[in-house]
Amino acid sequence: MKDSKTKKESTLDNKNFPDPNQTFPLKGYEQLCFLKNIIQNPNIIVGDFTYYHDFEDVKNFERNVKYHFDFAGDKLFIGKFCMIASGVKFIMNGANHLSEAISSFPFAIFEGWEHAMDGKAYPNKGDTHIGNDVWLGNDVTVMPGVTIGDGAIVGANSVVTKDVPAYSIVGGNPAKIIKMRFSDERIKELLKMAWWNWPIEKISAHVSELTGKDLIQNQALNTSAKKE
Ligand SMILES: CC(C)(COP(=O)(O)OP(=O)(O)OC[C@H]1O[C@@H](n2cnc3c(N)ncnc32)[C@H](O)[C@@H]1OP(=O)(O)O)[C@@H](O)C(=O)NCCC(=O)NCCS
Repeated sequence: MKDSKTKKESTLDNKNFPDPNQTFPLKGYEQLCFLKNIIQNPNIIVGDFTYYHDFEDVKNFERNVKYHFDFAGDKLFIGKFCMIASGVKFIMNGANHLSEAISSFPFAIFEGWEHAMDGKAYPNKGDTHIGNDVWLGNDVTVMPGVTIGDGAIVGANSVVTKDVPAYSIVGGNPAKIIKMRFSDERIKELLKMAWWNWPIEKISAHVSELTGKDLIQNQALNTSAKKE
């Protein structure tokens, strides 16, 4: 036991953490990637260490950001340390047809009917924001303009139509809150701590606490987090 601890400490001194700039962080496994490294579209902005898993082809990611047309100008922001499972889809604003008009048929895109939308606009619900440390389960769909708070979990096959509070677990279609992960007070502390913004060396030094339940009780760690 003592030996393994010593070994761990010495490797940490050697910057023993994954390189966020590598595409495939799991040796010999190309179905999981650090997402930011495969993104081509400048309107998709992804933070360090967020990973995407796809059983067929991780390059599917941009294909799963649907109706994301340049003319709509909407952006998909995804924070750091998110976990995005296979089949997750983001529906963007280019998907929106009229719902309050007599017809939702997009006449204006067809030849001869270009004037149909003069002086009018298709509904635009704005950018999509996924926080940090967010887990999106298998085959989740996120609708346009949704904000998912830090630390939230979205259950498999859910359709997220409305904003999701930080550190909640939501599920279903439409996704509803199943439960909160922590008390209001603890959520406030966690959001203040924002561990994902720590320097990577500090995160590496505390991965055991981050995977435990008692982080906030550790006064020393809490105090040092506030300084940064
Ligand atoms: C959402 C999830 C995390 C909840 O897990 P949990 O905390 O152990 O919760 P439980 O299984 O005890 O379920 C709690 C309630 O949520 C419901 N629920 C669970 N998953 C749900 C889902 N995906 N959609 C809708 N409701 C769901 C349960 O039916 C249960 O309802 P009840 O309280 O009315 O009985 C889990 O079910 C899930 O979907 N995980 C995602 C797995 C995945 O896709 N992984 C991909 C690889 S990264």
